Amino acid sequence: MQEEFSREYWEERYTHHGHGHGAHPNPHLIAEAGELPPGRALDAGCGEGADALWLAARGWQVTAVDIAEAALERARQHEAAAGPMSGKVEWMQADLTAWVPPENAFSLVIAHYVHPADAGNAVRQRLAAAVAPGGTLLIVSHHPHDAHSSAHTNSPGVHVTEERIADGLDPELWHVTVAEARTRPAPHPGGHDFHDTVLRAEKRR
Ligand SMILES: C[S@@+](CC[C@H](N)C(=O)[O-])C[C@H]1O[C@@H](n2cnc3c(N)ncnc32)[C@H](O)[C@@H]1O
Repeated sequence: MQEEFSREYWEERYTHHGHGHGAHPNPHLIAEAGELPPGRALDAGCGEGADALWLAARGWQVTAVDIAEAALERARQHEAAAGPMSGKVEWMQADLTAWVPPENAFSLVIAHYVHPADAGNAVRQRLAAAVAPGGTLLIVSHHPHDAHSSAHTNSPGVHVTEERIADGLDPELWHVTVAEARTRPAPHPGGHDFHDTVLRAEKRR
């Protein structure tokens, strides 16, 4: 059996099932990044690419990274179906536990439901370092009250409270504007809403 959240786990998942978040951009991204002026963005753990494509359609130049080639293949298919965009996505296969993004390079860095086994803090520090001065870090995680993710896993690092989501961000360098529990609507009528934890922080200039 594959180790949970290994590359093999994700390759298998995208090869056979796709991922539940699918082709729709994340509502927290739309709420938090919709008013930002386009620039360079990094989508870490981009999955099928809905968030990267939403940003590219708004003029962002996006580097979208995922460990699973099968996810990127689906993302490229969604991109081809979407047609020309004002921005562009560079799809990149890389393991965030090893890949070091360029420092101070992106005006927006997003990571949505990305929880690499054993290495979450180190990855987060590198993603934070990749944000340019004046830029935005947006992290969305599963809240401990989320029934959907809890039904699949209780691995450490998957669930984060609003009290802990800004841990490790130096207040001298970061202005945290959002550290909240938020919901997303249930996928089916009568189903459970998703419970997420949202961090938005601006890197001081
Ligand atoms: C729960 S999915 C979320 C995908 C997407 N961000 C979304 O919101 O729909 C987690 C993603 O992180 C990717 N991932 C997990 N560990 C990774 C790692 N070490 N390096 C790069 N990507 C990773 C998986 O392949 C998967 O696409």
